Amino acid sequence: MALINVRAILGWSFLCFWVASCNPLKDTEQVVAGPTPLSIPLPAHLPAMPIPSGNPLTVEGVALGKQLFNDPILSINNRVSCGTCHLPNIGFADGQALSTLGVTGVRLPRHTPTLQNLAWHNAGLFWDGGVRNLESLSAAPIQEHDEMGQNMIVVVNLLNRSGDYKAKFRKAFGGDSVTQSGLLKALAQYMRTLVSADSKYDQYRAGKAMLTAQELDGLQIVTTKCSPCHEAPFFTDHLFHNNGLQAVYNDPYKEGIRMGRYRITFFEPDRGAFKTPTLRNIMVSAPYMHDGRIADIDAVLEHYNSQVQESPSLDTLLNKPAQPIGIPLSTTEKAALKAFFATLTDPAFLAQ
Ligand code: HEC
Ligand code: HEC
Repeated sequence: MALINVRAILGWSFLCFWVASCNPLKDTEQVVAGPTPLSIPLPAHLPAMPIPSGNPLTVEGVALGKQLFNDPILSINNRVSCGTCHLPNIGFADGQALSTLGVTGVRLPRHTPTLQNLAWHNAGLFWDGGVRNLESLSAAPIQEHDEMGQNMIVVVNLLNRSGDYKAKFRKAFGGDSVTQSGLLKALAQYMRTLVSADSKYDQYRAGKAMLTAQELDGLQIVTTKCSPCHEAPFFTDHLFHNNGLQAVYNDPYKEGIRMGRYRITFFEPDRGAFKTPTLRNIMVSAPYMHDGRIADIDAVLEHYNSQVQESPSLDTLLNKPAQPIGIPLSTTEKAALKAFFATLTDPAFLAQ
């Protein structure tokens, strides 16, 4: 019996020795296999960033996504990148009412929106919420005839011809070749990092800056008259509303692309409803609305004050019983709103 015990002990220590000698090997394996997890620092007044379990943020994935975002290789004529229409210094919009910056130069049917805090857009992307998540989004602009006009399979083949991209995809996602899923995941990871949360307003929320009396008045008006649609901290509810730009939304052009959310749901109250845009960086991202029809911020405020059009699907917040239609705004209130909007400009975000 004693002998067996000794053997057992010997066996055990041998096993320990064997495992220990394997450890250094395991460490090297980990270094080669795993990309480096990345977490984005957020101020306390923002909720945690929702991240899908199948596509965690990594240093390698985000850097690859940024390179792809700015590479015209994704377009059929090798001239248009995502960044052609999404310019950082104006909140990742393009400054045109309806963009002509795509591969054909043909005017797009909708205005290029800003790209900010997209990780929290949980009710869908695009003006009508027609795309469910960031992972599936990029296939649309890449393939859309007048945007990048490219074929996904062709793009993947082109990327596979580049040793640089192959190595970067391997580091970010493993595997020996570039895949469509890796392409979409990398772009999604980069877009999740486009967080604007360091404006003067954010510093005020963090107790690091003061707002003037007029700016505070503006904040108060946003809270009482423009929320919950433009609610803090994102200054959008990420939902869809008809804010009274038109009385009728029947235009059948391009499968009803100007009918708003109705095109997706076929639900009458969604007729003319578009996703509430954020007010963050609003002073640098003119023109405004889903088709860029309003050129400046004064005209937007006048829209709410006196131009709101009645229709059966007009949001009830703009159509309260026994009150004038729209949101009455005095000259003083308009000035306060503009002063507050300027506190939502985030210079660090715009400079990236
Ligand atoms: C030719 C201009 C153009 C190019 C190129 C372009 N976009 Fe866009 N982008 C738009 C327009 C216009 C919309 C609005 C589409 C809609 O809502 O119908 C949009 C919408 C978006 C949205 C939705 C934002 C939101 O708030 O819902 C994201 C995200 C986006 N684009 C990312 C990209 C990425 C990634 C690429 C490159 C793969 C890209 N875009 C290329 C013009 C462009
Ligand atoms: C019922 C919800 C709702 C209310 C209330 C509301 N908005 Fe809007 N706002 C929207 C929607 C939806 C859009 C986009 C409409 C479109 O493009 O068709 C929008 C667009 C805007 C835009 C243009 C943003 C851009 O990037 O194009 C600004 C600025 C704006 N609203 C400011 C305000 C202000 C200021 C108030 C309060 C005085 C207000 N809104 C009240 C829903 C609302």
